[in-house]
Amino acid sequence: MAKLCVALDTNYKQATELLESLRGYPLIFKVGYKLFISYHRAITDKVKEKGFELFLDLKFHDIPNTVKEGVLSAKDLGADYLTIHITSGDQALRYAVEVKGKIKLLGVSLLTSLGEEDLKSMGLCITKDEYVLNLAKRAIELGMDGVVCSGQEVKTLKEGINKSFIAVVPSIRLEGDPAQDQKRVVNLEEALLMGADILVMGRSILRAENPVKKIEEILLKLT
Ligand code: C5P
Repeated sequence: MAKLCVALDTNYKQATELLESLRGYPLIFKVGYKLFISYHRAITDKVKEKGFELFLDLKFHDIPNTVKEGVLSAKDLGADYLTIHITSGDQALRYAVEVKGKIKLLGVSLLTSLGEEDLKSMGLCITKDEYVLNLAKRAIELGMDGVVCSGQEVKTLKEGINKSFIAVVPSIRLEGDPAQDQKRVVNLEEALLMGADILVMGRSILRAENPVKKIEEILLKLT
């Protein structure tokens, strides 16, 4: 069954209120730059204390030794999931896998805010599906646990990689919600149909009139 991961792209007060209201729900909470830079352990400990899985979305992109040290620190924080850009290179991923312990390492393929025209402007003459599949294959072969991609590529990855892995899908919009800065957007039903294992949702939940109610509605669709 797919899991819901709520992106805590909020201020500290909103984040702690959400965590308190949702105690006991089967949720993953994602902490990214916004809260982590300002609140560090105060927010990651809060997620763990309330009994949720912690997804640390720091999207490492660095040399192998620096990535390795970052993974070790994420382990100390008790992160359950951690993101690393696959374009950090094979050696960086190998170093990360060597020390990962129980953390599930997720390789970021092509950010969901980018499309084929962005690949072209970076000088890459390749379709987005080929680009994402090549990176995802590499990451899984090297021992990463999952891949972050858009819902548009999940099916291609599930068919093209003959090893089980976690498909993490951000950039999900509920009916009528604007895409905003995201380009490769899918709706909830499409993400599930394509085979997403973890649905990452931020603004469609956080900007709802009642985020807790919205989460409850989404959870019902996952059962
Ligand atoms: O608000 P929205 O639902 O677009 O938020 C998506 C979340 O997923 C953000 O926290 C963003 O940082 C994260 N994310 C993403 N695309 C990726 C990886 C992570 O949108 N490729």
